[in-house]
Amino acid sequence: MTTVPVLNTVALTLRPQSPEDVDDLYEIARHWEVARWTARVPHPYELEMAADFVADGIRRTADGIAAGFFARRRSDGASVGVIGASLSEDRMAATIGYMLAPSMWGCGYGTEMLRAVVPHYFERWPIGLIDATVSPGNPASERVLAKAGFRYLGDGELDMPARGGRFPVRRFALERNDWERAKR
Ligand SMILES: CC(C)(COP(=O)(O)OP(=O)(O)OC[C@H]1O[C@@H](n2cnc3c(N)ncnc32)[C@H](O)[C@@H]1OP(=O)(O)O)[C@@H](O)C(=O)NCCC(=O)NCCS
Repeated sequence: MTTVPVLNTVALTLRPQSPEDVDDLYEIARHWEVARWTARVPHPYELEMAADFVADGIRRTADGIAAGFFARRRSDGASVGVIGASLSEDRMAATIGYMLAPSMWGCGYGTEMLRAVVPHYFERWPIGLIDATVSPGNPASERVLAKAGFRYLGDGELDMPARGGRFPVRRFALERNDWERAKR
């Protein structure tokens, strides 16, 4: 399956990433308080980086190895954030990442986005788990993961090209078995 569906939550609509999102993605990713928590969002950020990010996401989706969404608020269409996942090389797991516009933090939207996409990824791919890494000092991201059922696995390190090296991270995962059990 290469098509990415539209997902609706209480407050948001998540649509497959599209070139129309480039300007809004740029407006989110250009903030240091967003980029600093990511492995691959350079800072300073340029509009063409947003265009490359979206084009790469669309290409990887067509190849069947990724799927990304852009979330907007249903009430007014305001840009909220992006969330996406990529398959691991062995295709046994997917790694998820997300970032929201700072003006949208603290409204529960990150949680809504994560909860909306988790079922999609487990249905889309025959993966055993979805994992995520969080840099130390980002409790909001850890909380969002915990609310979606992710468990803390332990500490590790991650190549963070946009931060210029390898850095400590805290690892989280949601196993398919746990997700299925929680659905019942
Ligand atoms: C992390 C991020 C996605 C959170 O999104 P959000 O929409 O603000 O999250 P929500 O409102 O759904 O939930 C945030 C939770 O974190 C909690 N929280 C926020 N700041 C906190 C802090 N300093 N300490 C402890 N908990 C905190 C909130 O209380 C809330 O939990 P609650 O519902 O139990 O009260 C958003 O801040 C973001 O995009 N940050 C920049 C990019 C980023 O960090 N991406 C993730 C990389 S791993």
